[in-house]
Amino acid sequence: MYFEFLTPTKVIAGDDAIFKLPFELEQAKVNKPIILTDKGIVGAGILSPVELAFKEYKFKMPTVFDDIPPETSVESVQTAFKIFKSENCDSIVAIGGGSVIDTAKALRMMVAENNSDLMSLAGADNLSGKGPVFIAAPTTSGTGSEVTSVAVIYDSKSSSKIAFASDFLIPDIAILDPVLTISLPKKLTAASGIDALSHAIEAYIGIQSNHISKALSFKAVNMIFNNLIDAIANGKDKKVRLNMLIASTIAGMAFSNSMVGVVHSLAHASGAVLHIPHGVAISLFLEAGLRENFAKCKKEYSELLNTVKCDFLGDKESRANEFLKVVGDFLKELRRLSGIPSGLKEVGYTKETEKRIIELAISDGSSIFNKIELTEEVARRMIEASL
Ligand SMILES: [Fe+2]
Repeated sequence: MYFEFLTPTKVIAGDDAIFKLPFELEQAKVNKPIILTDKGIVGAGILSPVELAFKEYKFKMPTVFDDIPPETSVESVQTAFKIFKSENCDSIVAIGGGSVIDTAKALRMMVAENNSDLMSLAGADNLSGKGPVFIAAPTTSGTGSEVTSVAVIYDSKSSSKIAFASDFLIPDIAILDPVLTISLPKKLTAASGIDALSHAIEAYIGIQSNHISKALSFKAVNMIFNNLIDAIANGKDKKVRLNMLIASTIAGMAFSNSMVGVVHSLAHASGAVLHIPHGVAISLFLEAGLRENFAKCKKEYSELLNTVKCDFLGDKESRANEFLKVVGDFLKELRRLSGIPSGLKEVGYTKETEKRIIELAISDGSSIFNKIELTEEVARRMIEASL
């Protein structure tokens, strides 16, 4: 066995963790951060504790760029780059969900390389350095982007999502404060939580999993099963919200090292074609993707059953089947409680969109480390099972 594992991010987690932000910036010897966020976060008052933190610390309130769409784009990153330069910023703070944090990663790349052509940096390991200090405070519990080395940016010219990957994209600090997620609506809580669950499971069953990532995935799956329903039913509970933030970060550490699989390929493709949120797309394909992997992943499913239902006895085959049943029941319950879509037909899928979804899915890099190959037939079966 051979593997490499990297998770360099300092994690600051707990009640009022966001109040450490100005202190951490000062420790890093920077004083002109740009805060990246979105209008929904500003509108929901989620930036208020951040502003208070700067005020109490007597740190000048930074420049705020809040015009980031739910699905970030090349244009958004370019605007952020222009502001960063014109305001002479020296560091980046992302307060938001995956879209905001991915924007911050792309901005960091452009600043590090002093290159205004973002697309020329697409792909893996195209950076020569890590760029400015970068702190991420997630406002959703799902992407794990606060500890991962990847960013996904929508390119309107090719109508596809472009992936960027480099160890230099991993944030220096992740701040996990439940006050930033307590106003997250039920649908977003469910969809982002399922995204985190898929990170943990796909990282566990993929060919690049290792003992460290498996330990992280195992814990993340357990925490998500124990907290996600509560987070939807009782969103104001800070303890549950913090547990989901931690679970999502742990899952992020796992998949940043062990990658994801076919579920993510189909989700990226359908996200680009149908313009549905990443977590919703994941929720539609998770069960189908796990079923496609069944023959090659019985051992892994049987192991994962221990973290969600430890009293089930049986051989490997029946335990693996039970794990899929437990995941299926969990998804059903999450859909019932939150109202997220239960099939592709509810989110604009038509037979005409299928060809493009399959094309994009099989050329998506996410499934390189999946145990089974993502062929056209597999992708089609996954779509049919998710209608
Ligand atoms: Fe994901």
